[in-house]
Amino acid sequence: MSWRHVAVAAEAVVRAGAIQLEHYGQGVKVDYKGEIDLVTDVDLACEKVILEVIRSRFPEHDIVTEETALARTGSRYVWLVDPLDGTINFAHAYPMFSASVALAVDGEVVAGAVFDPIRDELFTGERGAGAHLNGRRLGVTKADALIRSLLITGFPYDLHERLAERLRPFVRVIGRARAIRRAGSAAIDLSYVAAGRADGFWEAVLKPWDMGAGRLMVEEAGGRVTRHDGTPVGLGPDEILATNGLIHDELMRALREDASAAEATLP
Ligand code: IPD
Ligand code: CA
Ligand code: CA
Repeated sequence: MSWRHVAVAAEAVVRAGAIQLEHYGQGVKVDYKGEIDLVTDVDLACEKVILEVIRSRFPEHDIVTEETALARTGSRYVWLVDPLDGTINFAHAYPMFSASVALAVDGEVVAGAVFDPIRDELFTGERGAGAHLNGRRLGVTKADALIRSLLITGFPYDLHERLAERLRPFVRVIGRARAIRRAGSAAIDLSYVAAGRADGFWEAVLKPWDMGAGRLMVEEAGGRVTRHDGTPVGLGPDEILATNGLIHDELMRALREDASAAEATLP
């Protein structure tokens, strides 16, 4: 049943990706939601086309989208839309950004798609039917220790106000993992865990549209997705830890150790 929803999510992100590519590297108009939190005219153009696609197929469904507050009707079906994930990258012509669209039914994400137009990579997930990259089935890695793991993380826009709090877990983990990347698009980060290109990802706060599609893909690829204490991730803003499952407990412990352990790892 959800395959129809996956197809609509895929169409929406691919159409947004075409707009992103058309404007990539051309110098975009930037507005500020916060000192480092940007929105460009391309975010808005992508949102418009994604909403058109969803509304033309499912006019009775609710939509939660990043750039526009829309009224909710109480529908069981809620679409989660990030029209451009990685806006800072896009604004700097750094080639790592995407569009992400997911559908939650009765509070559970059941379908989703993430499109990276630079690499022409379409990641899709359907509850119970797996995660795919351009049609190829995805599976998580088999790394079973942090020291053999490539991890990804991201930092929320409150970073400057909470620098020490945000950096402590990073310092603890970077001293134990093989390497950490900070790529700048949470939707792609999560897709890469599903695709076996990284072993785990965490972030202190993500919005539902950042992680809706990606968290489904990680689960469908055989991985595990929780909050940093192992409890379920909510459908609102929340923390997230998404791994291949095998390193989950070790990474969870490293993220949650007390501050003195972090300071002890500093030179
Ligand atoms: C951001 C990106 C980034 C993550 C931030 C998100 P945006 O989304 O996913 O990687 O670290 O927390 O807000 O603002 O580019 O859509
Ligand atoms: Ca985002
Ligand atoms: Ca965005």
